[in-house]
Amino acid sequence: MTHSQADPKEVAGRRAAELVETGMTLGLGTGSTVYFYLVALADRIRRGGLKVRGVPTSLDTERKARELGIPLATLDEVTRIDLTVDGADEIDVRFDMIKGGGGALLREKVVASLSQRVAIVVGANKVVHRLGLTFALPVEVVPFARAVVERSLASLGCSPTLRLRDGREFVTDNHNAILDCTFTRAIEDPAALERAIDAIPGVVESGLFVGLAHVRLVGHSDGSCEVVEK
Ligand code: A5P
Repeated sequence: MTHSQADPKEVAGRRAAELVETGMTLGLGTGSTVYFYLVALADRIRRGGLKVRGVPTSLDTERKARELGIPLATLDEVTRIDLTVDGADEIDVRFDMIKGGGGALLREKVVASLSQRVAIVVGANKVVHRLGLTFALPVEVVPFARAVVERSLASLGCSPTLRLRDGREFVTDNHNAILDCTFTRAIEDPAALERAIDAIPGVVESGLFVGLAHVRLVGHSDGSCEVVEK
């Protein structure tokens, strides 16, 4: 018997929509994997009468959620977030992550840090043994301090590159720049590196997410999804 290949992102994203219960306030992550979650969530809202509201982590997610008819709230309007579903660029065995490929790391980290439960949806290719070898670490910086932050980051053992889009400086939803930091060796101690980066004046946030995820949903091309609790 032959099987058509499933999209691992879609498999994980759709499965995550099953974690949602009526009455929940949701953190809505950002990215192409989360998009499948949003579609499935919107479907449950439409067909099943699910009552939820979502706090988007980016302008992109806000727009997509609006188009899909997902009720939205701002962070100021909620007192708790029950469940956040978000993607990742790398996730390791301890569920530590590199995030920010889409540039939404700051709002994603704020929302994740306020969430009772954070579920990460990824295709199997995002699961790594050690962080830092397959994806550059994004660091959001205030434009004023970009050059000095770049030098400080380089002293931590990486090569920072200013992120561009269409030949121009990439600008985050918070009007900042992103430095993508390439490492030649795996990140030994993500928590220590996160602290060191956060201590550089001019850094707004790093894409290292340590100790924030509770469950990992990994989609495979055979259509299966591994759901692992931390
Ligand atoms: C957005 O800034 C990121 O943190 C995304 O969550 C991450 O890049 C995963 O995106 P994809 O699901 O598109 O791979």
